Amino acid sequence: MSPKRSNEQPFVVLGVAGGIAAYKSVELLRLLRQAGAHVAPVLTPDATRFVGALTFSALASEPARTTIFNDLTTPIPHTYLGQNADVIVIAPATAHVIARLAAGLGDDLLTATVWASRAPVILCPAMHTEMWEQPSVQENLSRLRARGYLILPPDDGALAGGDSGPGRLPDPESIAKLVMAVAIGSPAGPLSGHRVVITAGGTRENIDAVRVITNLSSGRQGHALAQVAARWGAEVDLITTSSAPIALDVARVVNVIRVSSAADMHEAVMGRREGASAVIMAAAVADFTVTSVTHKMKKAEGIPAIELIPTVDILAKLGQGDRGRQVLVGFAAETTNLVPAAIEKCQRKNCDFVVANNVADPHVGFEHPTNEVTIVDAVGVVEVVGLRDKEQVAVAILDKVASKLSGRA
Ligand SMILES: Cc1cc2nc3c(=O)[nH]c(=O)nc-3n(C[C@H](O)[C@H](O)[C@H](O)COP(=O)(O)O)c2cc1C
Repeated sequence: MSPKRSNEQPFVVLGVAGGIAAYKSVELLRLLRQAGAHVAPVLTPDATRFVGALTFSALASEPARTTIFNDLTTPIPHTYLGQNADVIVIAPATAHVIARLAAGLGDDLLTATVWASRAPVILCPAMHTEMWEQPSVQENLSRLRARGYLILPPDDGALAGGDSGPGRLPDPESIAKLVMAVAIGSPAGPLSGHRVVITAGGTRENIDAVRVITNLSSGRQGHALAQVAARWGAEVDLITTSSAPIALDVARVVNVIRVSSAADMHEAVMGRREGASAVIMAAAVADFTVTSVTHKMKKAEGIPAIELIPTVDILAKLGQGDRGRQVLVGFAAETTNLVPAAIEKCQRKNCDFVVANNVADPHVGFEHPTNEVTIVDAVGVVEVVGLRDKEQVAVAILDKVASKLSGRA
């Protein structure tokens, strides 16, 4: 095993595959260097058809490498790079390199470096929408995600060739931010030193011993918030009704508390709110529960009368009184009058922010992997976050929380 370099600078392997967005990796390289990283570029042979290795060599901390063989200065380049890396980022990641990684192939320096490393790997896929939507691409990404790879989903926007849709490489600034947060590890992330309570999923209210009243919330947005907050250095208490898996890379810093009913959720939140820097109520908590739950109702007993009573309004309770520097974020799922209702809710419940989403829109809200939200405060609109993956929506929300916390420090 070659010795690991001892250096204060995080060592970033910047992998570049042969996609049209390879030119943006030059800017990413510049931003990573500016942020203090030691950057070693590795280009696939096809990437060099798009951008010359010389451009990367001129800007990087060491010469760009393009081949596993014939490297006169480093006889075993993949182990040198893999063992020294604090993080490997591949931007753009082509459909082809994603497939090679999913299949375990190591026929070039970039994939061989990934195999020779224990560092976290961030993939930034970029391709035309038709390619992005291919089941093979999505299946390969699911396999890699399950193995702990971090996937930064592409943006929806203008693509090479004049068309538009999902597949565009996210802007180099946001990639650089994520790479640095992962490279320097949790202690230096934007939420380091903070404990954040996040709720997720729809609650279930028992009608009788076997039947429940619930809602369509999948818990995806809350889980995405937990993942991003953990990557940003927070200790996360995730109070969730959803049994969805938590990504391997963050499982160790997220305390998962599984609950079922609104009453369970209330008890869990109240038990953890004390001392938390932020409470983010992304769960869809039932407004009503059933008065008495006894035996399983039988058809022969006739049509039952189900009496509902209100549940505790957890968000309103969190907003009461002096909560010190704690940032409180509510969610509002509406089908009409979205933004005014969210601003009014923010005022009434004394939140710092309310995240409003129009659940009547296709591709938005419950059960969808994507979301489109408007973040408001008690005064008005703070940010309109266009249609994107729930993880990127989480980045926008947590960005506001982190700024608020640093303003209150
Ligand atoms: C002009 C042009 C643009 C391309 N852009 C992309 C792209 O954005 N994403 C992608 O996955 N493949 C793209 N391809 C196809 C890849 O270049 C091709 O699959 C190549 O073998 C990728 O090799 P690599 O993954 O080893 O770098 C493009 C090809 C051409 C000719």
